[in-house]
Amino acid sequence: MKRRKQAITNRCLLAVFWAILVVGIAFASAPTLKQAFVHDFYIGAALNQRQIFGADSSSTALLREHFSSITPENTLKWQAVHPKPDEYDFAAADSFVVLGERLKMFIVGHTLLWHHQTPGWVFKDASGNPANREILLQRLQQHILTVVGRYKGRIHGWDVVNEAIEDDGEMRKTKWLEIIGDDFIQKAFEYARQADPDAQLYYNDFNMWKPGKRQGVVRMIRELQSKGIRVDGIGLQGHWGFDYPLLEEAEASILAFAELGVPVMITEMDVNVLPNPGSYRGADISQNFELQKKLNPYPDMLPDSVQDKLARRYADFFALFHKHRDKISRVTLWGVYDGQSWLNNWPVRGRANYPLLFDRHYQPKPAFHAVINVVRDKEM
Ligand code: GLA
Repeated sequence: MKRRKQAITNRCLLAVFWAILVVGIAFASAPTLKQAFVHDFYIGAALNQRQIFGADSSSTALLREHFSSITPENTLKWQAVHPKPDEYDFAAADSFVVLGERLKMFIVGHTLLWHHQTPGWVFKDASGNPANREILLQRLQQHILTVVGRYKGRIHGWDVVNEAIEDDGEMRKTKWLEIIGDDFIQKAFEYARQADPDAQLYYNDFNMWKPGKRQGVVRMIRELQSKGIRVDGIGLQGHWGFDYPLLEEAEASILAFAELGVPVMITEMDVNVLPNPGSYRGADISQNFELQKKLNPYPDMLPDSVQDKLARRYADFFALFHKHRDKISRVTLWGVYDGQSWLNNWPVRGRANYPLLFDRHYQPKPAFHAVINVVRDKEM
């Protein structure tokens, strides 16, 4: 009897030993993100100022280990880098490029022409009246030559134009369109090419999975190409959620853009796990308890069930990217870890969101392992 008990105990111990060994080996040999996709596409992250200035060493460690490309979240936007007509501020941008070079990253500049985060003076003449086409074109050219020129040969790719097309495929009604006319996209690409002939030049937009936008962007890129303008990449900002886009819709856009002969990039990926606030847009929920519970359901931690759902969603997206790895050149996450995500403060301030692959303690989440497993499963 005693012997039998001993044998069972031994067997249990052996099983536990094997389990630990197998899990240990699995984790020890787990590839990093960039290693997992090294033959497929760059894995990028967007960086905030603290990360750019090296004040967040945990992020730097993750960057070094897992990522092969960086994009600045805000640093190269017009209002940050060129706040006044005769004033440029390159402190953060310089630091960003030096960091990228030190870590041997594919360095992306974001963004040269956009309707947000662009100071009001850009669209006014010296007397404060609306600028005319000549003034605005000259300003755009000077801005692009100065910013792109400064990092010539060092920033490898630029989001030249951001968000110029509406969801229905029409041109977005912005000051750029109103003042310059619809060749403003062409002009921006020409100036950028002039500033750095070897840099890759991209068009970048959100909701690219919507059929209207897909068709509008295809039309716009075809038109540029017919005028001899080379577009080196089309960026699908991956600001996605649990129920949008359908994988088929994202796939249809990847295929449609690739048909233009242009590499596709997923440029700003995050998966929003929080409820859509609908009419509470921009609300400050800190004062209202009931609203808080509804809109900020996971203030302390993400429940396992949602964590698993997020992991599955990420796995599905990365399986799609991997399937189309011959068309996709880069997948950039919009942040290194959950704590820095813009989705903690938009469209509602002060929520705890969990949209990325590393958690608030810089630890890999189940979604991270799910993404790695996409490639591992294929290799087995
Ligand atoms: C857009 C812009 C990004 C960033 C996000 C929100 O997608 O392209 O630069 O501002 O919105 O963080």
